[in-house]
Amino acid sequence: MPHPAAVPHDPDPTFGELIAARPHLSMHAMDGLLMEGVPLNAVADEVGTPAWVISAGSIRGRLRALQAALDEAALPARVHYAVKANDHLAVLRLMALGGAGADVVSGGELRRAMLGGIDAGHIVFSGVGKAEWELRLALEAGVGQVNVESAEELAMLSGIAHAMGRMARVALRINPDVDAGTHAKITTGRADNKFGIAYGSAASLYAHAAGLPGIEPVGLALHIGSQILSMAPYRAAYARTADLVRDLRASGQSVRMVDCGGGLGIGYRGEPVASPAAFAGAIRATLGSMELELAVEPGRWLVGSAGLLLASSVLVKSTGDRRFVVLDAAMNDLLRPAMYDAWHGIVPVSAVDAARPVAPCDIVGPVCESGDTFARGRALPPLARNARLAILDAGAYGSVMSSTYNARPLAAEVLVDGDRWSVIRARQPLESLWAGETVPGWFE
Ligand code: LLP
Repeated sequence: MPHPAAVPHDPDPTFGELIAARPHLSMHAMDGLLMEGVPLNAVADEVGTPAWVISAGSIRGRLRALQAALDEAALPARVHYAVKANDHLAVLRLMALGGAGADVVSGGELRRAMLGGIDAGHIVFSGVGKAEWELRLALEAGVGQVNVESAEELAMLSGIAHAMGRMARVALRINPDVDAGTHAKITTGRADNKFGIAYGSAASLYAHAAGLPGIEPVGLALHIGSQILSMAPYRAAYARTADLVRDLRASGQSVRMVDCGGGLGIGYRGEPVASPAAFAGAIRATLGSMELELAVEPGRWLVGSAGLLLASSVLVKSTGDRRFVVLDAAMNDLLRPAMYDAWHGIVPVSAVDAARPVAPCDIVGPVCESGDTFARGRALPPLARNARLAILDAGAYGSVMSSTYNARPLAAEVLVDGDRWSVIRARQPLESLWAGETVPGWFE
C-alpha cells in the first residue's frame, strides 16, 4: 500500500501554509525563517549545514497537549515516549521533566532513557527480539514492565528472572490483526507481521505465564503501526483488546493494565490528522470503563514536527528539462524519503527566496544513489549556491536513522528554546569515522 503522504492528490501546500501550520516556525522579513525566537541563519552561520534543529517549546507543548487530552477523557493513562523516534538525551530530559515515562526497544535505549532522567519504574521494554543481556539489564534496572512478544521470549524471561530472584511484570503484546492503513514498512498489527502474539493464542499464553516462575502477568499491549491518520483501526484494535480482557477476566485471570501503543500520525503534507482528543476518545470508548491502568507510547506525534533538517544547496544543475537542486544533506542524514517515499515540506530559509516565483525541481542529496531524493517536482524559487533550505518535520525518525554512508559524518544537532539555542551534538569529526578500524597487521 502506498504511503498516504506520498499520494499527491491535492496541490502541495505553499511555504506560507507549511509555516503557518507549525506554531514554532515563522518567517521574518529580514532574519528569514525563525524557530521560536532563533533565526535559523544564525544557527547555520555558526554550526554549518547539514544540521538538525529541534524546538524544545514544541516538544513541551505537544506532551502537555497529549496529557491534557487523556486527562480530559478521564483516562488513567501514562505517556510512555517511544524513545526510538528521537533518542537524544536532551529530548529525553524534556520528556522526563514533562512527566513522561519511556518505551524502549534495546539495552541502549534503556540506558539512554535512564541517563535522560526517566525513572526505570516508568520504562516499558518492548521489542520483538530482546537479547538475554538486554533482559538482564532491564530486570537489574527495575523496569516497570516488559512487553513480551512470543512464547519463546516468555520462557527466556522466566528463566532469567527466576535465576536473578526477580519478578518481571509482563504485558503480552498481542497482534490484533488490524490493518492500520499505513505504509507497508511501518504497519505492525496485521497477522502476517512479525510483531506480537497471535490474537487467538494470547489467552492460553497469559494463563501459562501466570504459572511461570519469575513472571507476573499484568496485562496486554498492542501497537498497530505508525503514521496512522484515522481512528478506525485504533478503535477496531482496542475493541478486540477489550474483548480479550473480558475473556481473560472471565477465566479468572487478573488483568490490570493495557498499553495502547503509539502510531498517531502528523500532517507532513497538511493531510487531515486525528487529534489527541480523538485518540483519547477511541481509548475511552473501548477500554475506558474497564478499571484498567492505561498507557500510550507515541513517538512521532510528540517530536516529529518539532524538528527540521537545515541544509544548503551545493549546486543547481539542469539535465534535459529537469532542474536538480543538490543539497549538502542526503539520504544518510534523513532516510525517510528514500525508505518510505515520505513527503517532507521544504522551505527556503531566506524570506527573499520564499517570496520569489517558484518552478518545479528535484531536490536531491549528493549520495551516489537515485534514491537519494528528498522531493521530485517540488515548487522552489531559483536558488543560488549555498542558499539554505529547511526540510520540515524531521524531529522523529530523522537523526536516529542517520548513517555515515559515503563516509559522510553525522550532522550537528541544535536545540532551540525561546531565544536561546545550543549545540546538543557536535558535527562528527571525519577522523572518528575510521577511528575504530584497524588493518590486519599481516597485510604489511
Ligand atoms: N511503540 C512501539 C512498540 C513501536 O514499535 C513504535 C514505533 C512506537 C511505539 C512509536 O510509534 P510512533 O508513535 O512514533 O508512530 N521509521 C519509521 C517509523 C517506524 C516506527 C517503528 N515503531 C518512519 O520514519 O516513519
